[in-house]
Amino acid sequence: MKKIILFISIATSVCAWTPNSWKQKQSKQLPDYKNRGTLLKIETILSKKPPLVISPEIDNLKKELEEIERGERFLFMGGDCAETFREHSSKQIINNYQLFIFSTIILMTKTGKKITKIARAAGQFSKPRSNDYEMIDNKKIPVYKGDMINRESIDKREPDPFLMLRAYHQSMETLNLIRALSYSHKYSSINVQNWKTDLMSNIYQIDFLTEILNNVQSSINVLSSSELENSWNINCAQLYTGHEGMLLHYEEALTRKDRFTDKYYDCSSHFLWIGERTRQLNYAHVEFFKGIHNPIGIKVSHQIEPWELIQLLLALNPQNEHGKICLITRMGEHIEDALPKLIDVVKKYNLNVIWVCDPMHGNGKSINNIKTRYYNDIVKEVDHFFNIHYKKGTIPGGIHLEMTSNDVTECIGGNYIIKENNEKFLNTNYLSSCDPRLNFFQTVELIEHISNIIV
Ligand code: PEP
Ligand code: CO
Repeated sequence: MKKIILFISIATSVCAWTPNSWKQKQSKQLPDYKNRGTLLKIETILSKKPPLVISPEIDNLKKELEEIERGERFLFMGGDCAETFREHSSKQIINNYQLFIFSTIILMTKTGKKITKIARAAGQFSKPRSNDYEMIDNKKIPVYKGDMINRESIDKREPDPFLMLRAYHQSMETLNLIRALSYSHKYSSINVQNWKTDLMSNIYQIDFLTEILNNVQSSINVLSSSELENSWNINCAQLYTGHEGMLLHYEEALTRKDRFTDKYYDCSSHFLWIGERTRQLNYAHVEFFKGIHNPIGIKVSHQIEPWELIQLLLALNPQNEHGKICLITRMGEHIEDALPKLIDVVKKYNLNVIWVCDPMHGNGKSINNIKTRYYNDIVKEVDHFFNIHYKKGTIPGGIHLEMTSNDVTECIGGNYIIKENNEKFLNTNYLSSCDPRLNFFQTVELIEHISNIIV
């Protein structure tokens, strides 16, 4: 079997890679732009824009991921399912940033591990969808694919290349503020008293937060009294970015050859992942991801066959580099059956990966056509993920969440919820354009839970 897999992987990589070699391949999920002239114009403009991130930052993340692979660090990835133009504001960026810092302090103080943070932000605008069309008022219309491709409004569903440029500019604004916040300890050291008044909620009991907030405040006090609060050494403030590299026209335009090493980096983001729906071996997305030097993620559900995973890993990481591949498993109720098989085969072939749990995408439910997820299902998948890895002797390296700092009502539950009427709950403050996110309270509760099971 080893020989066959090796042969297939060599056979699939004979053509030389270029940033646009994906165009020779069959593709899934990509929009069909009607106006090719405009598309070319936008691609050319984007290819001359400054990169959003640069190669030394990407290399730093890779080094941190190597530490994660060895169990010396933990990875916390999270953010919106889809960023939107509508929700973009400095308040939202600052609050999301503070949620990362807050969660990081909980994880650090409980586990003693360094934490690497990657925000699903500054590029998470294009969405794979299960269907190309939907029926609205008996009319068949193209589905919404994310603000970088088309708009939610039903008369604006035609893919528009200009939206890539708009998403680039918004990403630049977001990154600019994130970088500034990372250097400014006022924003990373939280004033718990202010937070308490910000966090008034008639949906959650905030008492449970008091103890957590007080513990966080104590940690901040220790850090600030030792003048460590904004030190890079404690690695508290730095926030990397990541998104699904779905819209290859955009990703190609932001891919640059590094002037020092001649290696290609996708400079739209530090980290990119291939989605569950675009990870077919000989297709366009895998082809593009083969040539970029960024660390990458691969989303995998229970539907992947072990041999298929091995082929993918050989194709995407032929040198078996450390810190290169995050296998982001999202298996829902199938995890107990599916994950051990994948762990066994990855061990058998001695392939280097970082195991990350996405407890969101295998746990979708629907109530009266409103997409939701139950907090308890999410916790269940997280618990199985950690237990299975501990039993197998592999390292559970990270967590990947869809979350926001708002008090949204998109996922149901959490131990501190006051009212249980699910339907009414969902209608209270449902803002997501795509999948349901954990709100502030649910995220903190889950992070607290995770911080108790990391060893
Ligand atoms: C996502 O992360 O928003 C997503 C669509 O995930 P997946 O590819 O795992 O379904
Ligand atoms: Co999603």
